[in-house]
Amino acid sequence: MRMVDLIEKKRDGGILSREEIRFIIQGYVEGQIPDYQMSAWAMAIYFRGMVTEEIAELTLAMAESGDEIDLSVLEGRFVDKHSTGGVGDKTTLLLSPMVAACGVPIAKMSGRGLGHTGGTIDKLSAIPGFKVELEREEFLRQVKDVGLAVIAQSGNIVPADKMLYALRDVTGTVPSIPLIASSVMSKKIAAGAQGIVLDVKFGSGAFMSTLENARELAKTMVGIGKTLGRDTIAVLSAMEQPLGNAIGNAIEVLEVWKALQGKGPQDLVGLCIELGALMLIAGRKVNDIDEGRGQVLATLENGQAMTKFREFVRAQGGDLTALEQGSLPLAPLRATYCAPISGYVQQIDARKIGHLSMVLGAGRAAKNSEIDLGAGIYLHKKQGNWVEAGEPVLELYTSAENKLAEGWKLAEKSVLLGPDKPVCTPLIAEVIR
Ligand code: URA
Repeated sequence: MRMVDLIEKKRDGGILSREEIRFIIQGYVEGQIPDYQMSAWAMAIYFRGMVTEEIAELTLAMAESGDEIDLSVLEGRFVDKHSTGGVGDKTTLLLSPMVAACGVPIAKMSGRGLGHTGGTIDKLSAIPGFKVELEREEFLRQVKDVGLAVIAQSGNIVPADKMLYALRDVTGTVPSIPLIASSVMSKKIAAGAQGIVLDVKFGSGAFMSTLENARELAKTMVGIGKTLGRDTIAVLSAMEQPLGNAIGNAIEVLEVWKALQGKGPQDLVGLCIELGALMLIAGRKVNDIDEGRGQVLATLENGQAMTKFREFVRAQGGDLTALEQGSLPLAPLRATYCAPISGYVQQIDARKIGHLSMVLGAGRAAKNSEIDLGAGIYLHKKQGNWVEAGEPVLELYTSAENKLAEGWKLAEKSVLLGPDKPVCTPLIAEVIR
């Protein structure tokens, strides 16, 4: 086989076979296929697309390109959740103990934040002592003993995706549905998931800004899951404004802690109940969504989710003393943005707030930049709320004067007030199975 023939085949709209796709992925990871040919191939996919079987083969070839986690050594049916990324999205932290408390074990690998979106691993790092890296044996032992472990994605999981994503990033081929879908699903499959629940966001703060594109991505990923024998369900959820009221790292952990005590924001808790119920379905624990909702909600009400969270954090070396006292250290410099006029909050733009959070130090502009775990934003008001002139709308936390000054200017641009009550997009638009 020659790579040039396969590039031409895709360029002319052909369908690549399993062997051809494996030849490309293996050849690239082993260094036999150069970046320039891989770039041309990615661009051919960008324009020509792929059929479901091709995308499933690509997913599998990528999943098998490096280390894979074999969860079959443990009992239980493992279900993973993936969010396509958002602002204030702390669902993994709240949802995982709820689902684990219902008896569906969670063995999760998560990422760090980049750009305007946050990452679970950064949030967990805000808990003093919490270890985001565990040896494979320790990870499996914790899943067996506690039913829940969350670690940073290890170095050699899906190397094909790391290499291809870096190439796509500089060749204009990131926004291709077959390439995004295979990238996401290969990581879930390599991590051993038998059931997969996808939270596909749409709106200003999401990777997919329109509902139509998010739907297409969701359908593609559900199609891959079905082809590869994984129970896969996707939720399309709005990311027009941040999820919950806290954006940052320590500040989001605090919000989760309150939610575990039954005092969480309605949108965050509502989304977690829905995703949790679907995870119980994918985990074949329940057949019916109402039964699933009832079981996950009960874990919040009877304290079992909180107990599971405590066990999980302690097992990974986390010190709960500060959280037990209702706090975690937040950045020392603060400013409150108050409403200049009375009115309804028309919009708190998720992308702008995500960018503001990065400027304050809570997020990374580049892959290796340092972050300030105490920096962030607290929203006193959300879309549709009435606010009196002079009342606080949002609070900024940072550690440097220049960041506060720059952040202040962005805060003003992130909030829109007006006289009429806005029509708010429902948080969950659709479920695709
Ligand atoms: N997230 C991923 O994991 N991969 C993509 O290609 C895009 C977003």
